[in-house]
Amino acid sequence: ASKRIPLVAGNWKMNFNHLEATYFVQKLVWLLRDAHFDFKRCEVALFPSFTSLRSVQVFVEADKLRINYGAQSVSVTNQGAFTGDVSADMLASLGCTYVIVGHSERRKYHPEDDANIVDQVRAVLAAGMQPILCVGESFEERRQGIELDFAVGQVHDVTRDLNTDEAAKLIVAYEPVWAIGTGMVATPQTAQEAANAIRDDLRSTFDGHVADTVRILYGGSVTSKNAAELISQPDVDGFLIGGASLNAEELTKIARLT
Ligand code: G3P
Repeated sequence: ASKRIPLVAGNWKMNFNHLEATYFVQKLVWLLRDAHFDFKRCEVALFPSFTSLRSVQVFVEADKLRINYGAQSVSVTNQGAFTGDVSADMLASLGCTYVIVGHSERRKYHPEDDANIVDQVRAVLAAGMQPILCVGESFEERRQGIELDFAVGQVHDVTRDLNTDEAAKLIVAYEPVWAIGTGMVATPQTAQEAANAIRDDLRSTFDGHVADTVRILYGGSVTSKNAAELISQPDVDGFLIGGASLNAEELTKIARLT
């Protein structure tokens, strides 16, 4: 649907220890190879827990695969007395390409507010990686009919602090909270409408190049049953997948449909 290479990203959330991650990667590689998967046509990325990143790196590198990977969050500071935190430089040195920033579960269960999310985006960019910024309204905003303003506003809260070069490196994931883990997938029209509104805002904040470059993913109950219709929308450039990404066959199916 566009010049942008679609991205199929598996957010494992807090699932799989490093042994299970190792097993999964080997299986996924086998399935993708068996399907003669064309990595030039669609990119695949995995988002394991911090504790599994090294194992994923070892297997991806050993096979010289084209699977990318990244972390689910990052510290806003780069080093020092911050017990329990992991820095962007640490992730970059593990070969991470991306970091998910501002997932609704992080916004809900951790003190990740707009200021913190902007700082994470900056930390990721400074370390040479790309942030996948998650936005999306809850059911309440949708009920009030303010869902588009809400999602666009969440993007805008971050992009107003970025310059054009930084903005061009952003990936946005539109994940309506009501669709996450509920089986209530957004309709292709709903996903398109939000992705289009976000892209329009990027065009007016920056320029046509940024708007045409930034990939906008849809997330929320994506499965191999609904992926084809969603990806056929002109502004939907791939998926951020939770539950279905824990099954290698299912993830392969979705990637092949994308
Ligand atoms: O980040 C992906 C996610 O929140 C969607 O989860 O399980 O609905 O695919 P799920």
